[in-house]
Amino acid sequence: MHNLDEIKLIAIEELKKIKTIEELYEIKSKYLGKEGIITKRLKTLRDLSIEERRILGSKLNEIKELLENEFEMKKEEIEEGGEIKYDITLVGYKREFGNIHPITRVYREIVDIFKSMGFSIEEGPEVESDWYNFTALNIPKYHPARDMQDTFYLENGKLLRTHTSPIQIRTMEKKKPPIRIVAPGRVFRRDEIDSTHSPVFHQLEGLYVDKSVSISDLKGTLESFIYNLFSKDIKIKFRPSYFPFTEPSLEVLIYKNNRWLEILGAGIVHPKVLENCNIDSKVYKGFAFGLGIERIAMIKYNINDIRLFYENDIRFLKQIKGG
Ligand code: DAH
Repeated sequence: MHNLDEIKLIAIEELKKIKTIEELYEIKSKYLGKEGIITKRLKTLRDLSIEERRILGSKLNEIKELLENEFEMKKEEIEEGGEIKYDITLVGYKREFGNIHPITRVYREIVDIFKSMGFSIEEGPEVESDWYNFTALNIPKYHPARDMQDTFYLENGKLLRTHTSPIQIRTMEKKKPPIRIVAPGRVFRRDEIDSTHSPVFHQLEGLYVDKSVSISDLKGTLESFIYNLFSKDIKIKFRPSYFPFTEPSLEVLIYKNNRWLEILGAGIVHPKVLENCNIDSKVYKGFAFGLGIERIAMIKYNINDIRLFYENDIRFLKQIKGG
């Protein structure tokens, strides 16, 4: 059995080590609880002589008071934090960095490349008229090309643009050649959603109009763009195609993952389109191209489902950090 002074010192030592309120109450009951060391000693006083009871009693009460004080101080220390506020053994919070959305990233990359080649940026409205979206682009009402670009019609007769090509018309109406622009934007189509289709997606249009613009200018510009966006050694193929607003028209393919992938449409601006904008097609020529930003992003980052871009799943978005 320890003597009282020893008990007091041990209790104070124990108090120093603890960190939580739970531990504090444990120690408090160990010494001052019903069955506590000090309490039990106090109970034995009645068996002692008056003299012994007086001496031992005052000693016990002194220790009891001292410990009560110590407990109170420790309690405050724990509650206020004090030294034990920061437990360096706890796992820290990880600070997450934000990430540019893959569509924004690819869009910026594409725009930067064309800017470096002297193109400026134009924009246009998402709600368009039939004239700008179709008719002026040589797609009259009866034209079967309208089939592939069915859209959403508003009550006022306007429609949601199906491509960024109407920005060509708007730009040629307000600017005189030479014109050298790219026009990014959101476009809409009445397409069923699946892994490669979305009713809302993004495109980028290009247009160059000047006195002597040839298909080799178009070819050189697109090659330079593709080498920049992918890599210098990527294989490129040009293949004839058809668009109502260009003549001749072509498609551009790149060789990636063991197959040829179509990445954009292009051509020499149809004389009718120039005339629709009051540009003399005998004096001026132009080339144009259009690409889908999601499609480019999917090819560039090997993404197999367009829906991933719109679901905001952080596990997907985190993976696309490219340079
Ligand atoms: N507007 C076309 C589409 O949405 C893409 C396109 C093809 C744009 C050829 C052009 C072009 O300017 O020359 O499918």
